[in-house]
Amino acid sequence: MAETMLAAPIASNLRENEFQRYYEEAGPDYAAWSAGFNMHFGYLRRGANPLNREDMLEEMNRQVLQRLRVTGDRPRILDLGCGLGATLRSIARALPSAQLHGITLVPWQLEQGRRLNQGSERSRKIELRVADYEDTAFPAETFDALYAIESSCYGTGANKAQMICEAHRLLRPGGRLVVADGFIGPGKLRGPQWAVYRKLCECWVIETLGEIGPFVSELENAGFHDLAVEQIQARVAPSVFHVPWVTVKFLLTSVLLRGRKMTRARWNNVLAPILLPLVGYPIGPVAYFLVSATRR
Ligand SMILES: C[S@@+](CC[C@H](N)C(=O)[O-])C[C@H]1O[C@@H](n2cnc3c(N)ncnc32)[C@H](O)[C@@H]1O
Repeated sequence: MAETMLAAPIASNLRENEFQRYYEEAGPDYAAWSAGFNMHFGYLRRGANPLNREDMLEEMNRQVLQRLRVTGDRPRILDLGCGLGATLRSIARALPSAQLHGITLVPWQLEQGRRLNQGSERSRKIELRVADYEDTAFPAETFDALYAIESSCYGTGANKAQMICEAHRLLRPGGRLVVADGFIGPGKLRGPQWAVYRKLCECWVIETLGEIGPFVSELENAGFHDLAVEQIQARVAPSVFHVPWVTVKFLLTSVLLRGRKMTRARWNNVLAPILLPLVGYPIGPVAYFLVSATRR
């Protein structure tokens, strides 16, 4: 029972309810996006096929793992906002000896993720639990590496200070943190872009995206060094271009043919990626970043 309760709920009860509803109702729809339930955008490596979406989504997992620079026999790695555990399963394939943990705020994802992890000997050892990455119950200096893929955006405030502070506490000295996400900046939202941005946040039940300048300053203040800030919009854009096609196919098969009811949360999940390019680079200041840092 304790495991299905939220450790430290997000900002308000209203938003928490919306957040849970969004992931419970729209969660199964991610099957239309990714066979492996990767709940993020992809990374197009040089020479790869931009039509192969799943390969680009898996490549994002590989790029994050590469930047974690894990070494040693049984590195301990934690996914801060693991969704259905797709990235952890990728890492389990690449590093069978790693001790892998994932946390999410959504009990439904925990159940589904555990079910998907039963698919192979390696992924069966992954440990998932419901916890808030701003305040986990793990002891200090438990992990060699932490990452957050498209989950840091849910953290409090534009600098995500609470998430960063907890990440610093959880890492051993020399441990690595990698964050892959959309951020605002360095430019600013202008005029009508504010309305689009607010609707985008409402759709994904986000308080505010991170702002890249304050986020990086916060990492330095918290005690991270060796910072690398990569703007990878061009690598991510090819997977964003899949959104209209996947949306049309999804609406035809899931709604028209199978007659599944579209709830507000499910419509929001369709609308958000369509709004994203309207505030995204180069029209707007929202861009995708890979930020890596080492704990002092
Ligand atoms: C868009 S999904 C990304 C999931 C996964 N990283 C992936 O790429 O497949 C965002 C995830 O962040 C998680 N999340 C958001 N805020 C969180 C918090 N404060 N603590 C833990 N997980 C959180 C959600 O529960 C969800 O699993």
